Amino acid sequence: MSPLTKVTNKHLLAVYNEPMIYKVIKTLTNSGINDIVIVLGGESVGDFIRLLGDGKEFGAKFSYVYQEGAGGIAEALNLTKHIVKGHRIAVILGDNIFEDNFKEEVQEFENSNDWECMLFLKEVTDPERFGVAEIDEDGKILKIEEKPKEPKSNLCVTGLYFYNENVFNIIENVIKEIGYSTRGELEITDVNNYYIKKGKTKSKIFKGFWSDAGTFKTLLKCSNFIKNQLNKE
Ligand code: G1P
Repeated sequence: MSPLTKVTNKHLLAVYNEPMIYKVIKTLTNSGINDIVIVLGGESVGDFIRLLGDGKEFGAKFSYVYQEGAGGIAEALNLTKHIVKGHRIAVILGDNIFEDNFKEEVQEFENSNDWECMLFLKEVTDPERFGVAEIDEDGKILKIEEKPKEPKSNLCVTGLYFYNENVFNIIENVIKEIGYSTRGELEITDVNNYYIKKGKTKSKIFKGFWSDAGTFKTLLKCSNFIKNQLNKE
């Protein structure tokens, strides 16, 4: 998003009234998740820490991890292993703006042995920009394709993922069996497909607004959404 990101990080840009990263953190805290590991990269690390601090302002506890380079979401997650190992976790991407909170889903996932992974789907008009879910007649998720030229549905797999304790073993398998993608990333879609194959993945189409905020257009779309929402209050 240059030149907006020439001297700062995308996730520090404003979504109407707050830095993008605030909205993302609030999606977690509003869902009852308060122990948060933030994976940082690039040159704005000091700015993030000065902005976010220890998490008190958000009623949360923050830990920080540094990712060298842009090796992908699964690589970023893998770097948190020494902190979150042994717990069920939620992963959220720093440019994903959600209207909803996911309190009920967090409860359901925490207390259930039925599901090892939960994914959140949203109908979009431009699925080729995202991970796209293939589902059967019963709504069961069969497979995800990352940025397919010919999408099998218009259901985007959004950047919120719930995983059980096994996720770091699955990442190890992805590293061994699939490795980094052509865009040089360890793909979260490969991790998700691993879970889907095991048959214990629940996918849910949620109601509220969702968008990434990682392009000029979608950043404005998210800002407008927040503006309208605040005007309603
Ligand atoms: C990532 C994921 C993709 C997902 C998207 C949601 O894409 O790889 O599957 O649909 O986030 O924002 P990226 O932003 O890395 O292109």
